[in-house]
Amino acid sequence: MAVIIKAHSTNITKVAENIKKGNVVAFPTETVYGLGANALNSAAVKQIFALKKRPLYNPLILHFSNLELVLDYFNLNELELQIAKMFWPGPLTLVLKNLTLKGKEISEYCKGNATSLAVRIPNNNIALQLIKEANVPVAAPSANVSNYLSPTTANHVMLSFKKDDLLILNGGKSVYGLESTVIEVINNSINILRFGSITKESLLKLNLPVTSSIDNVLKSPGLLKKHYSPNTPLRLNAQTVNTNEALLAFGNITKNLLNNSSPKKVLNLSINGNLEEAASNLFEMLWELDLENYNSIAVMPIPNFGIGTAINERLKKAAANYT
Ligand code: TXA
Ligand code: MG
Repeated sequence: MAVIIKAHSTNITKVAENIKKGNVVAFPTETVYGLGANALNSAAVKQIFALKKRPLYNPLILHFSNLELVLDYFNLNELELQIAKMFWPGPLTLVLKNLTLKGKEISEYCKGNATSLAVRIPNNNIALQLIKEANVPVAAPSANVSNYLSPTTANHVMLSFKKDDLLILNGGKSVYGLESTVIEVINNSINILRFGSITKESLLKLNLPVTSSIDNVLKSPGLLKKHYSPNTPLRLNAQTVNTNEALLAFGNITKNLLNNSSPKKVLNLSINGNLEEAASNLFEMLWELDLENYNSIAVMPIPNFGIGTAINERLKKAAANYT
């Protein structure tokens, strides 16, 4: 049975001991909750895939507690180092190709069918303390069953893994609520593989070309068309809402949109139209609506700039009815 435990220091130590023993655990990060295990232990890493029902080809992100430890395992070039210093700890994942001798100890299962490894340092004190005490790189995908909504509370993790033997550290609601941005450095440019909490606009501050290849399934094997999906069908960019639907609103709800009908339930991602607030509420509100079995969920249009790009990308995948 899974159990949610308070994230005080004794429990963090207990969960770190579990990682050292080769068990899988769940912990909060600033983006979403992660399902973590010792990245040096293949049996433990395989257990993550099994629990999540995740295909083995889809690679995992390695979590470290500080840059010096990353440099024990990976050789970073000048630009990668500059980006690391600028954004870590924080919601940015760097795909790295150049392992040190010690880096070769990382389980091959973490790579999926990629030839590189993804790395980040989370900006969450519970996660940092846990990874530091475990004293190993921690491989951790989001703590949801593959293709379902990502978890932003300990309770979401519980709902997915009730029957499994899993300690879930409770760190409250994730601050960002959207996964990290995944990037790779190619020569002197940055390529975005997954939009996330760090926006394209903030990457452009480096004064380098920024491209994106998010639809290139070969480049980022995990980025299937269907992902992050609730069981209830989503209707995106809704201009009107029907009476038998729930409404996921953003900003002002106009009379035109309601069109004389009264939706069964209305949740607003951000009444003031704030995109950061909308991002942090997105998965939590979708979880809530999905558990209540509406015919469908109408989603109002979300502006496509800043973190809105990542929100729209998640919504598009959540609404896709094919993989
Ligand atoms: O915010 C996050 O990134 C959260 C927290 C727990 O850190 N983790 C997370 O992991 O979202 P996951 O496994 O749900 O998503 C990782 C994404 C996947 O789409 C995967 O395909 C991609 O990163 N990825 C991982 N390693 C990669 C690699 N070597 N090359 C390209 N894409 C990679
Ligand atoms: Mg995920």
